[in-house]
Order: sequence, then C-alpha cells, then structure tokens
Amino acid sequence: MRELLTKIEQNTRLDRVGDRLQRVVQGTLRAQRVRDLLHGVWLGHPLHPAMVQVPVGAWISAAIVDLMPGQRRAATALVGIGTASALPAAVAGLNDWAALSRDQRRIGLVHAAANTIGVTLYASSLAARLNGRHNLGRALAYLGLSAASTGAYLGGHLAYKQGAQVSQSISELHLVSEGWHPLGDMSTLPQRQLVTREIDDVSVILYRHGEDVTVMLERCPHQSGPLGEGEVQEIDGHACVVCPWHGSTFRLNGGEVVHGPSGNDQVVLPTRVVNGRLEARLP
Ligand code: FES
Repeated sequence: MRELLTKIEQNTRLDRVGDRLQRVVQGTLRAQRVRDLLHGVWLGHPLHPAMVQVPVGAWISAAIVDLMPGQRRAATALVGIGTASALPAAVAGLNDWAALSRDQRRIGLVHAAANTIGVTLYASSLAARLNGRHNLGRALAYLGLSAASTGAYLGGHLAYKQGAQVSQSISELHLVSEGWHPLGDMSTLPQRQLVTREIDDVSVILYRHGEDVTVMLERCPHQSGPLGEGEVQEIDGHACVVCPWHGSTFRLNGGEVVHGPSGNDQVVLPTRVVNGRLEARLP
C-alpha cells in the first residue's frame, strides 16, 4: 500500500487532469468570500473534514440498518441524506484541493475519483430503493461504502502523511523552550513594519503598533510560506499580514485567519516588556 501511495504521489501523468481540474475549480470558485467560506476561515478550522462527517455517518448507519429486518425506509432515508450531504462536502474539498502542492493534488485527485464513484453508487442505490428494488439498492450501497472507504483512506494519507490543510506552523511551537525569551530593545523596533527575529531557532515576526507588539510565528500555517516577507494590509480596521505564497491573510493583533487558503489561525506568542526589552514566551 505504501508503494502504491508513493507511486500516486510521483505520477506526473495525473497532472494533466489535475491541472485542468484546478483551473476549472479556480475559475468557478472565483469570489474570495465563497472560497473563504469553503476553506472554513469563519470557523478558524478547515471545513471539509467537518462536513464529511455527515455523509460518512449516514452511509455507515445505512450499512448497519440494512442488516436489520423491516428497516427499508430508514435505510433509504440514510442513503438519501448521505448522498445529498456529500455534494457540498465535495465542493469544500475541491476548494481546498485547488490550493495544494502538486504531490498532494495527485493523491487528492485519486481521493476525489474514489469518492465520486462512491457517490455515484449511492445515488444509484437510492434510485433502486425508490423504485422498490431494495436488494439491488443494498448491494450498490455496500459497493459505494467500499469506494468511499478507499476515498477516506486516501484523505487520511493526504492530511496525516502529506499535511494537507494541517497547520504547518504549530509543530514549531514544540521547538521553543519554556520561559520568557528576549527579542531586543523596544527602541530598535520600527513602527508598523514587519521585523523577523528568532527564538530557539524558530523564526518569528514582530509588528509594533504604538507600544503594542505582536510576536507571531513566521511560518505560514498553509504551506510554510515566509510571512516575514509578506505585505501588511489594513482589513476592516485591523492590520493584517498577507502570505507572499498564496495570499492567506492573518490579523496581526490576534492571528485569526482573515482569508484562505489557510483554514487555520496563526500562532501569536504572549509578550511583555521588561526594562525596555521585549520578551515573548509560549502561549
Ligand atoms: S504558504 Fe500558502 S498561503 Fe502561505
């Protein structure tokens, strides 16, 4: 299985289809507000993994109910709920997928193909059940569950092995030791400019506004882009840093994600000033 996954990750032939689909997704989901909604920016957490709980839960429940006598209506309802809820979950997944790296997109493409087969089988199962062909509907549903399980396995690989839509910055926190760390004299910090410093070899950005200073991890939660090279923009009255790689935007006074593709907030470290020297520590 590991070899197969590595082959998929390295299969450049998937890029022809992947690149075309990426253009279609980006061309269709053009509005920033829609993309942010689907990335889960409003939630501070990727939306796709939360949304897939509904179809997966409904389909697994249908598989169990199908084993019980006299539960045809319940099983049909569960298959219908699962199939209908899979569509918005797929749109959120495609929106995330379009902002992934190439090797991630290859696995994501096969994940989407397996799930498309699964949804098609479940839709066919629903049609068969509504036409009174319950045995056929049951068989199609079990085939659908097999395809969706393959899709779920690939989705797990995408998230846990390849780190898709997982916060890339959070692991940096484990490299920072306990206690307060000096970050230099306040007098050397310019106003409203990003400054990059290091704490225990972990890069952080500093942003001073008056006497308030934000200290934030520099590595972008999306795909580790250098936020220290980003632009500062005023959005809704808040100073924000825009990642130079794919445009994820974070509030400098709290780290909340304002625009995706990151669905995760950025980590901000608590600060204090002692005798004119700035210090920061782990949250
Ligand atoms: S690395 Fe993709 S938005 Fe920052």
